[in-house]
Amino acid sequence: MSPRQRQILTRIATGTARRAGYNQRMSELTITRPDDWHLHVRDGDALKAVLPATACQFARAIIMPNLKPPVRTVDDALEYRQRILDALPIGSAFEPLMTLYLTDNTSPEEIVRAAMSGHVKAIKYYPAGATTNSDFGVTDIRKCDAVFEAMQSIGLPLLLHGEVTDAEVDIFDREQVFIEKHLIPLVSRFPKLRIVLEHITTASAAKFVLAASENIAATITPQHLLYSRNAIFKGGLRPHFYCLPVLKREEHRVALLKVATSGNPKFFLGTDSAPHARNTKETSCCGAGCYTALHALELYAEAFESAGALDKLEGFASFYGADFYRLPRNTGSITLKKENWTVPEEVTFPNSALVPLRAGEQMRWRFAL
Ligand code: NCD
Ligand code: ZN
Repeated sequence: MSPRQRQILTRIATGTARRAGYNQRMSELTITRPDDWHLHVRDGDALKAVLPATACQFARAIIMPNLKPPVRTVDDALEYRQRILDALPIGSAFEPLMTLYLTDNTSPEEIVRAAMSGHVKAIKYYPAGATTNSDFGVTDIRKCDAVFEAMQSIGLPLLLHGEVTDAEVDIFDREQVFIEKHLIPLVSRFPKLRIVLEHITTASAAKFVLAASENIAATITPQHLLYSRNAIFKGGLRPHFYCLPVLKREEHRVALLKVATSGNPKFFLGTDSAPHARNTKETSCCGAGCYTALHALELYAEAFESAGALDKLEGFASFYGADFYRLPRNTGSITLKKENWTVPEEVTFPNSALVPLRAGEQMRWRFAL
């Protein structure tokens, strides 16, 4: 019996077969093991603290390169990959998929080496100064055209932090301005370049990706599907809801939820789980990032359930990302159970603690171990 057939039989046995329908009364959901196509795991003791949570839920993850200093060369990436493998719980089959951090000085030769390494799956673009650890980022995207040319001909995906950094542009408009000023010209210069617009946060980004050719896709985080910017200000200033790109108006959340749950393969899961120690979040100038690796799938399940679209979670979480990256889909499965539980106030993190998104609040789904 193939793993797929076994999975279908399990679904029938547990009453979660597709033909029974995914509906609001469903108490259990079994899907092919998912992947996280946008993840920050840091390094050293922080890496050891956060990696097990992701390895428990996901088979693979695209690992962000914004370390200090960033992962700029294939050698850096291979060394970082080994540190990740060394930090995995014994017996874990989790596979880190590595990325390089694009700088003004990245060479086309490094792109070729990256593609040939077998382990570097994408190149990440951060505009200089856009977000956490982005000081080495690109100062002018047109400086990288030779690199994009190489990526386009090899087929190596470009992952975009799609925000402008101009201080005069309102922070809530920075994604839309990036699309108009940089992304549309980039796509017309390199129409075949494979691009993932990461962690999209606006209706205009969703619309852009929908209308773009099939080599352009997007990831969406759980926080942008569940919360609008009101969450940052509910009853006071809430630093654990602050990430970049920042949460937007409710109408944008609704637009993102619509495309995520539409079954369109251009939109897939990328948590952007970005751990920051409690003392660096709860301070006068707090770092950007939400920690969601602990309960990522449960958060997504809640979002999909709210749209009456649990049947679309498997494609979003387990198929479309792998297809875009031209990697095989996973064969194992995971199960979520309908069960209330309270997110811990904090989890262990070096020299401090780590506060997960929605700490101390209720969850409706639980990952079955
Ligand atoms: C990320 C981080 O902390 O590394 N923060 C975030 O708010 N998303 C960086 C990033 O992806 O922008
Ligand atoms: Zn990120």
